[in-house]
Amino acid sequence: MKYFIETYGCQMNVHDSERMAGLLESSGYEPAAGDADADLVVINTCSVREKAEEKLHSRLGHIKGMGRATGHFPVVAVAGCVAQQEGSRLLERSNVIDLVVGTQRLKMLPMLAAQARVQRQQDVSTATRALAAIVDVSTPYDEPSFPLGLARHADAVKAYVTIIEGCNDYCAFCVVPYTRGHERMRAKAEILADVRAAVESGRREVQLLGQIVNHYQAPDDPHCDFAGLLEAVNNVAGVQRIRFASPHPRHASARLIAAVRDLPAVCKHIHLPVQSGSTPVLQRMRRRHTREHYLDLVAKIRADIPNIQLSTDIIIGFPGESEAEYQETLSLVDAVRFSCIFSFKYSVRPNTLASKKMPDDVVADDKTRRIREIQLLQRRIQLELHEAMVGHRVEVLVDARSQRRDWEVSGRTTGNTVVNFPGHADWVGRFVEVAIRRAGPYSLWGEVV
Ligand code: 5AD
Repeated sequence: MKYFIETYGCQMNVHDSERMAGLLESSGYEPAAGDADADLVVINTCSVREKAEEKLHSRLGHIKGMGRATGHFPVVAVAGCVAQQEGSRLLERSNVIDLVVGTQRLKMLPMLAAQARVQRQQDVSTATRALAAIVDVSTPYDEPSFPLGLARHADAVKAYVTIIEGCNDYCAFCVVPYTRGHERMRAKAEILADVRAAVESGRREVQLLGQIVNHYQAPDDPHCDFAGLLEAVNNVAGVQRIRFASPHPRHASARLIAAVRDLPAVCKHIHLPVQSGSTPVLQRMRRRHTREHYLDLVAKIRADIPNIQLSTDIIIGFPGESEAEYQETLSLVDAVRFSCIFSFKYSVRPNTLASKKMPDDVVADDKTRRIREIQLLQRRIQLELHEAMVGHRVEVLVDARSQRRDWEVSGRTTGNTVVNFPGHADWVGRFVEVAIRRAGPYSLWGEVV
């Protein structure tokens, strides 16, 4: 039996796919190269924006087309946030889907896939199929633990480790509390065991994941907050790099800044979502931080950690965003000089406060113009930041060979900048020193010294 998993969305989803892969392999499945040789296809979906959600339906169309053309009909499972959000509606909409597994029931996947094979012979109603795997995320449920060492890390260098599941923040635009449920902390002992298992399997870098990762408080150690956890992970022998995503500016304490500064394994990069540069927009978003608070925080971080790189997420065209409010986001991007930004046009998400109370009233053309302008500004800033690195030497953890040139590899600096240089595939996982020769807006080129 072979499985194929396709993943959309965030690191949390990528990691859930690694967990599902581990579960399937421990129940006897082997990886397939694609749909054509898979007995089971899992589509791990994202619903953070409408565009991501649409991908599922084009993917299902593709599988249907393959079935018609070749007579090969793999069992199809839909997992992830769209699965959780839509539940049985998915089965009504598409007859290609055999099973839907919610975000809180991953562990049931092998059992559900076995049932689905039996159902292929019988005729089980849509309703019974759906209800097997969706739990109501609005009620307290489940503990966030996962069998140790079972996740099948997709990356040779980096291991994701979940520290918090779900979120209680209810930002007005965000679907996550409705798809991943309320916030649950994993035990520190369990996190550290996962980290040790990752190191033993050869991973150099650990990436700690949580919706609001710096809200962490260990349920099994009253003295361990997120800064304490970073220290504990830093002290695990063999951990060479630690990254984390994503912190909320509201919980960015002096202790956290000191931990990033002082712990040698913690990378000098913080992804700190701001969402908007306008305080009134942030208020409407229910973000609970202001423009001034964010800029103060940036100044404190920069004063404490001179070589830090900061990146962010931005939503353009949130309901009611005026031209003047948008200009505040533009000016914040100009002032902070992020090493990277992820910018998104606002998209209405089911169940959210904004979808109920705030009309999506920024016209499409304005959203497009604003996002283009922000991206153009950011491109210029990145090019300037990168050009300033030409002639310098940086330490790079090699994480991939080039897709296009077989003599080239790439890796990242501690600040998360991508560097390309001539090298061998077997360098992946090694630290090398690279002299930077050339800069582009999205990456650097150099030579090993
Ligand atoms: N519309 C547009 N962007 C969104 N994001 C989250 N929800 C929405 C939405 N409804 C963005 C935020 C978040 C990132 C992961 O996706 O910027 O930080």
